[in-house]
Amino acid sequence: MRLSNGARLPMVGFGTALVKDAVVIKKALDLGYRHFDCAWFYGTEEAVGEGLADFVASGRRDELFVVSKVWNTHHRPADVRKSCEESLARLRLPSLDLLLVHWPNAWLPGSTPEAPQPDEGVTLAETWAAMEALVDEGKVRALGVSNFSIKQVEELLKTARHKPVVNQVELHPLCSQRKLVGVLRRMGVTCVAYSPLGGQSVVLPNELLDREEVTRVAQSAGKSNAQVLLKWNIQRGVPVIAKTVNPARAEENLVGMYDWKLSYEQKAALDELDRGQRFISYPWSEWADPEEGGVAKPSKAFGY
Ligand SMILES: NC(=O)c1ccc[n+]([C@@H]2O[C@H](COP(=O)([O-])OP(=O)(O)OC[C@H]3O[C@@H](n4cnc5c(N)ncnc54)[C@H](OP(=O)(O)O)[C@@H]3O)[C@@H](O)[C@H]2O)c1
Repeated sequence: MRLSNGARLPMVGFGTALVKDAVVIKKALDLGYRHFDCAWFYGTEEAVGEGLADFVASGRRDELFVVSKVWNTHHRPADVRKSCEESLARLRLPSLDLLLVHWPNAWLPGSTPEAPQPDEGVTLAETWAAMEALVDEGKVRALGVSNFSIKQVEELLKTARHKPVVNQVELHPLCSQRKLVGVLRRMGVTCVAYSPLGGQSVVLPNELLDREEVTRVAQSAGKSNAQVLLKWNIQRGVPVIAKTVNPARAEENLVGMYDWKLSYEQKAALDELDRGQRFISYPWSEWADPEEGGVAKPSKAFGY
């Protein structure tokens, strides 16, 4: 799909959280994956860089879409730069296709997800301006956010020179966030689905993938549970990032995925699961009221 900066984002991306082996990345490339979702925080960028190296050395860098993210302890401008430069060095790339603010939360150095200490000394506008400088220098092609609400995107748009092209958020049938996806789409911000299969049970157990309702749809479509979950997002125009270290599953998640569709009834059966249930939610992640902001009920960010 085309992002608002004109760049092409492959609809099925490869998640790299907990991917520690470069061979997994090489196999993903062989299967046809070109969109790799990385982050400074995952601690896996060296393995990803090693996995991508031969492909890049063969002159095919432009076929790739590589994303990284600025972690919560790196929101101060000097740390934004350091984070990006470290990601680039580990990924062995001269530039990123997309750099995201990982979460809207700024934390003091040394904070962990278990013991976060808010950093009151930096604003999102300052973090964003530091990221914009990286675009100006050619280190990053486009900017985006992750885990942002409509209102937080609207706030950012008030000062942004380079507009966010993506908001990467948790999206699957149990957490469809229709208003967020639709309103941001009209603002030129594409929502990208993370944990589209229900996640890796790192924060909360995956109660999606093996659900009876999902199995029923999968059986009627003659596909796997994972395939119908990915297709549910793809069919509504939302790119997905799924992670697997298993080559057979990596193939299942990508190959032939554009050759079939969910029927209206199959899509509707998955739509019915929506209950705003997240698998990535920490005590410190304050989710905004989903009705706040946007066209139907504008936030106060623009003064209307
Ligand atoms: N921006 C953010 O805050 C944020 C948060 C979370 C995730 N992410 C990104 O999104 C990516 C994906 O999310 P995620 O890793 O949380 O979860 P996910 O992709 O929804 O699910 C991954 C889990 O599903 C399994 N799996 C993958 N394909 C499968 C298949 N075809 N059949 C059965 N099981 C399958 C994987 O196991 P195996 O590996 O053993 O196959 C793994 O346990 C991450 O890697 C990361 O890049 C971003």
